[in-house]
Amino acid sequence: MKLIFATHNRHKLEEVQAVLGPGFELVTPDEAGVHEEIPEEQPTLEGNAFQKADFLYERTGQDCFADDTGLEVEALGGAPGVYSARYAGEHVSYEENNCLLLKNLEGETDRRARFRTVIALILGGERHQFEGVVEGRIATEPRGDRGFGYDPLFIPDGYETSFAQMSAEAKNAISHRGRAVEKLAAFLKERQNG
Ligand code: IMP
Repeated sequence: MKLIFATHNRHKLEEVQAVLGPGFELVTPDEAGVHEEIPEEQPTLEGNAFQKADFLYERTGQDCFADDTGLEVEALGGAPGVYSARYAGEHVSYEENNCLLLKNLEGETDRRARFRTVIALILGGERHQFEGVVEGRIATEPRGDRGFGYDPLFIPDGYETSFAQMSAEAKNAISHRGRAVEKLAAFLKERQNG
């Protein structure tokens, strides 16, 4: 089964390909002939994921999916959420976003947060949605140098180490994206088999 994945990130594509296995062929928008920038302008993760998947489907008529992820901090009313990539402004570094998050949580004792990934799938013209969540808390200072984004500040429930202190395998096994992709994979495999 061939699917277009709305990402230009090779690393992400290979990670998802590994979970789906050899029965599925993932291709990038470029490989499917879509070279325009894919819009991502909605106020929710669900809205963005479907905006990207719909965009690809309208142009290709082929099966496709898209994901969107955000860090939702309890004491900040769910921020930065859908704005996680540009929390401290457009084109800022991960470090700048992390600094702003720590500043906004200064003196705050409720450090609860979750990463949430939404995957929008369009299969045979039908729309499906999958969600992966990992609950945790925001550390008071960055820890570790692996991973990316908010990883140095996020300590998943049941652990004392941040995502940036874990191996990629250990993180993927419990992460928001890992869980959402597992659900997508289970659904696609069931469809393929029956
Ligand atoms: P995207 O939807 O996967 O592009 O993620 C949006 C933003 O959320 C990224 O720019 C990161 O700041 C943050 N983010 C997404 N996934 C992770 C993760 O696994 N660890 C840390 N930060 C993440």
